[in-house]
Amino acid sequence: MDTNTTAVNAATLLDGTGLVAVIGAGQMGNGIAHVFAQTGYKVTLIDVNAEQLEKAVATIAKNLDRQVTKGTLNEDQKLAAVANIQTSTDLAVAVSTASLVIEAATENVDLKLKIFKQIDAAAPVGCILASNTSSISITKIAAATSRPSMVIGMHFMNPVPVMKLVEVINGYATSKEVSELVVAISKKLGKVPSEANDYPGFIANRILMPMINEAICSLHEGVAGVESIDTIMKLGMAHPMGPLQLADFIGLDTCLSILRVLHEGFGNPKYAPSPLLVNMVMASKLGVKTGEGFYKYTAGSKELVVSDSFL
Ligand code: CAA
Repeated sequence: MDTNTTAVNAATLLDGTGLVAVIGAGQMGNGIAHVFAQTGYKVTLIDVNAEQLEKAVATIAKNLDRQVTKGTLNEDQKLAAVANIQTSTDLAVAVSTASLVIEAATENVDLKLKIFKQIDAAAPVGCILASNTSSISITKIAAATSRPSMVIGMHFMNPVPVMKLVEVINGYATSKEVSELVVAISKKLGKVPSEANDYPGFIANRILMPMINEAICSLHEGVAGVESIDTIMKLGMAHPMGPLQLADFIGLDTCLSILRVLHEGFGNPKYAPSPLLVNMVMASKLGVKTGEGFYKYTAGSKELVVSDSFL
C-alpha cells in the first residue's frame, strides 16, 4: 500500500470532501447513501437498473421527510442531502473518482467477487473498498482484488438511518490504517462502530441467525404459533420485533443464505437451516419484500396479520 496516497485519501474522507460510491440501490444501498449524503458527503449511487435508482432516490427523499416531520432535520438540510446524491448505471466511470466505495449488492458470493474485480480495476489507487455483506468472507472478497489491505467490511443494519451500529469487519489482510479510518468515518456518520474479525457471520449474524432459525424450528415443531413466539421475545426480552417478524423484515432468502454460510463455514449441524425456512424461500414467501412470509403485508398498513399458512 502507498502510505502517502492513503494519507491523502484519509484526509478527504475525514473532512467530508472525498467522494463516496455506493453500489446497489436496494434497501441497504439507499440507506447507506442516505446517511452519507445527510452527513455532507457527495455520493454516487450505482445500479445496473436505472428504474431501481429512481425508486431509491424517491425512497431516500421519503425517509428524509420522516426526519423533517420529527424535527430532527430541517427542510434545507433535507434538500442539501438530496442534492448530494447522484446516480449512475456505469460502475467503472462512477468509481473512477471515488475515495471510498461501499458495495451493497445482492448477497451472492460470485456476484460480489465479480463486482470487486470491476471496482478494483476502475477505482483510484488509495480508494478504500468496503462491503456491506452480512456474512460473506471479507478475506475472500479482498483476495479478488489487487489491494487486499484496503478491503474491509462495513456492515450497516436495517433501517440504516435509524440503527446506530456499524459492524466493522477486518479481513485477514486489512491494514490497521484502513480499519481506523473506517471506524472514524462511521463515527462521523453518527454511528457507533464495533469491530469484529472475519469468521463466518462475524458477530451480528453469528448470534442473530441461530435465534431466528430456532424460532422457525419452534414454529415448525408446533411448540407455539407465530404471534406467541414473537410476543414472548418482544415482551420477555424487550426486542423491538419478534424473531419471525424480524426474519420477514430482513428477507427470508437473506436469512437462509446467511445460515448456509454459518453451516458450511463452521461445519457444525447446529447451524442447519430449518426445513420450513428452506420451503418458504422455495415458495418465494420471502417476507416484507414479496408481501408475505410469516405475516401478510399490505402497502400502507402497519397492522401485523399472520399469514394464512400459519393460522
Ligand atoms: N429512515 C428514516 N427513519 C425511519 C426509517 C427509515 N428507513 N424507518 C423507520 N424510521 C423511523 C421512524 O420515523 C420512527 O421515528 P420516531 O420513533 O422517532 O418517530 C422510528 O424510526 C420508528 O419507526 P416506526 O414508528 O415506523 O416503526 P417502529 O416503532 O415499529 O420501529 C423499527 C421500526 C425501527 C424498524 C423497529 O421495529 C426496530 O428497531 N426493529 C428491529 C430492527 C433490527 O433488528 N434491525 C437489524 C436487522 S439485521 C440487519 O439489518 C443486518 C443483517 O445482516 C441481517
